[in-house]
Amino acid sequence: MLTVAVLISGTGSNLRALLEAAASADFPARVVVVGADRQADGFAHAEQFGIPTFLVPFREFESREHWGEELQRQLAVWNPDLVVLSGLMRLLPASVVDAWAPRLINTHPAYLPEFPGAHGVRDALAAGATETGASVIVVDTGVDTGPILAQERVPVLADDTEHSLHERIKPVERRLLIDVVRRIATGELDLSRAGAPAPTP
Ligand code: GAR
Repeated sequence: MLTVAVLISGTGSNLRALLEAAASADFPARVVVVGADRQADGFAHAEQFGIPTFLVPFREFESREHWGEELQRQLAVWNPDLVVLSGLMRLLPASVVDAWAPRLINTHPAYLPEFPGAHGVRDALAAGATETGASVIVVDTGVDTGPILAQERVPVLADDTEHSLHERIKPVERRLLIDVVRRIATGELDLSRAGAPAPTP
C-alpha cells in the first residue's frame, strides 16, 4: 500500500477527492497525513476522514529555508512513499525537493509548460487562450518545470471568469491526480523514469 502525504494551502477540494478515492478498499494508496503552510480550510476534509494534520506556518519563519527545514522534519515523521502538493501555494526550498525527488508531485491548473506559477488560470484568461488544461507533474527545483506525468485540455469559454474556469479545470485535475497516484501505487508509473525518453520499440 502506497502511503501519501498531501500538502495544501486552501480549500482542499482536490485533497478531498483523493481522500474519497483512497477510502475505497481497492484503491492501492492511503493518505497518512495532510500538512499546510497556513490554517487551511482543507484541514476540515482531513479531520472528517480521521487523517492527522500538521501546520508549518510559513509566515512564522525567517526564511523559506527555515520553513522548509521544519516542513521536512514533519514529513520525515510520517516518512510517506509519496508527497502530493495539492494546492500548496508556496515554492519548496531545494532542500525539501532534493529530499523527496522524484517522489514529489504537484497538480497545476494549466496545460504545462503553458501558464506556470501561482496564477495559471488567471494567466490563461489574460492571454486570451481558447483552451487551457490541467497537469500533474514531478516537482523539481523550477517553477512547474518538472516532468509531466499526465495532462488534459480544458476549453476556455467566452464568458469564463477565473472562478468559473478554475471550477471546470478542478474536476479534470482530480481525475488526473487520482489516476496518477493509482498508477504510481501499482508500479505502472515509475517516477524514477519520469522525464526519460520513451524506450524505442
Ligand atoms: C488547484 O487547482 C491546484 O492545481 C492549484 O490550486 C488549486 C487548489 O484547489 N495549485 C496551483 O495553482 C499551484 N501552482 P483546492 O484547494 O480546492 O484543491
